Amino acid sequence: MPFQLNPDFAKEPAKHFDTLQVHAGYAPDPVTGSCSLPIYQSAAFEFKDAEDGAEKFGLRRPGNVYGRLTNTTTDDLAARIAALEGGTGAVAVASGHAAEFLTFLNLVEAGDEIVASNSLYGGTWNIFLHTLANLGVKTTFVENNDIDAFEKATTDKTKFWYVETIGNPRVDVADVPALVEAANKVPVPVVVDNTFATPYLYRPAEDGAAVVIESLTKWIGGHGTTLGGAVIDTGNFDWNQVPGKWPQLTEPDPSYHGLVYTEAAPDAPFATRVQTLLLRDVGPTLSPLAAQQIGIGVETLSLRVERISENALAVAQWLKSNPKVAWVRYPGLEDDPTHDIAARLFNGGYGGVVVFGVKGGRQAGLNVVNNVKLFTHLANVGDAKSLIIHPASTTHSQLSPEQLKEANLSEDLIRLSIGIENITDIIDDLDQALAKA
Ligand SMILES: Cc1ncc(COP(=O)(O)O)c(C=O)c1O
Repeated sequence: MPFQLNPDFAKEPAKHFDTLQVHAGYAPDPVTGSCSLPIYQSAAFEFKDAEDGAEKFGLRRPGNVYGRLTNTTTDDLAARIAALEGGTGAVAVASGHAAEFLTFLNLVEAGDEIVASNSLYGGTWNIFLHTLANLGVKTTFVENNDIDAFEKATTDKTKFWYVETIGNPRVDVADVPALVEAANKVPVPVVVDNTFATPYLYRPAEDGAAVVIESLTKWIGGHGTTLGGAVIDTGNFDWNQVPGKWPQLTEPDPSYHGLVYTEAAPDAPFATRVQTLLLRDVGPTLSPLAAQQIGIGVETLSLRVERISENALAVAQWLKSNPKVAWVRYPGLEDDPTHDIAARLFNGGYGGVVVFGVKGGRQAGLNVVNNVKLFTHLANVGDAKSLIIHPASTTHSQLSPEQLKEANLSEDLIRLSIGIENITDIIDDLDQALAKA
């Protein structure tokens, strides 16, 4: 039997999103009757006998061995995320960044190249610009959605293209189907960070993305309590189509007795390698307690994203009509540069992040940040509460002025992550803070 990630998920009948977010990955435990996902707080798991231990260690039999690789609570959460993203398998890990880095390690080696959109989270810029560069991997940044530029920057050594569905913090929406169409001609896999859209608004797997990444810390967990990330294998990409180009997945792995991931786990070779090899070797494991917290949060994802999207659109429209505001970007605004792409791809809203600049520039914007009362000033998004930050001096502060320019990130940009509060209270707070700007 091929090794299968998320066996519970494989048994799930197709259901609607709102149902899957509550039920996928876990059914009441027949032994204890526990109706909510239990926390299996165990570092290791007992083998039935010597043969069972050997079979599980050799990946010839599914089952828990050691908590750095697998844990039932964490795997049930991953199964739920796989179901929501429409993937063939998923792995839940310690943070969104861990999900990114393990994905990159699954695709590149020293000497390889990456082509990435320039509309990215600052931390992701850092991984590409410094950490991967120090390991001998070169990233070329190109203008988001400039498919010609993606193609021109691609060489024989390019192992993947990388985009965020909604860029942080520019909030421009990537045309994933168009990118995938162009990438398939190379061929090269498209990896999509879907954190800002969430699988409720958009599922890149359905448009051919090879791998999807989520920071579970944001809207999926939804309450700003818990760090987590997920790597979702979509099963869309044939890793064997260029022999030897992605050897990690298609050639015998000496650290698993010559196992070949595309043969041993044909449905989800990418996620299986992340779980069995990279978690084993690198170790950014999601704890079962964190997985249970995120598993509770995700049950209300659709409700929160609908409300947050409704609130965010109202905030964007209100800011747009405010004489103190210089500019506003939100994909839900009809004249926003990527509104047409968002309207074509998204279902049920445009997400929770609105960005704007105040007349008077950077300092006037900082005055707004300093004067909000309901909004919380912190470096996160995707909470039930409304949040505010000035990225150029915080989340993206490691970028030099030239790199900020390359990222098309203006110095005056203020980022709002809108929560589920009453819209009148949200707008009243912005109004009084803008009055002091
Ligand atoms: C788009 C995006 N991806 C990934 C991450 C990293 O996620 P985490 O903070 O869970 O490591 C972030 C963090 O802000 C993000 O905004």
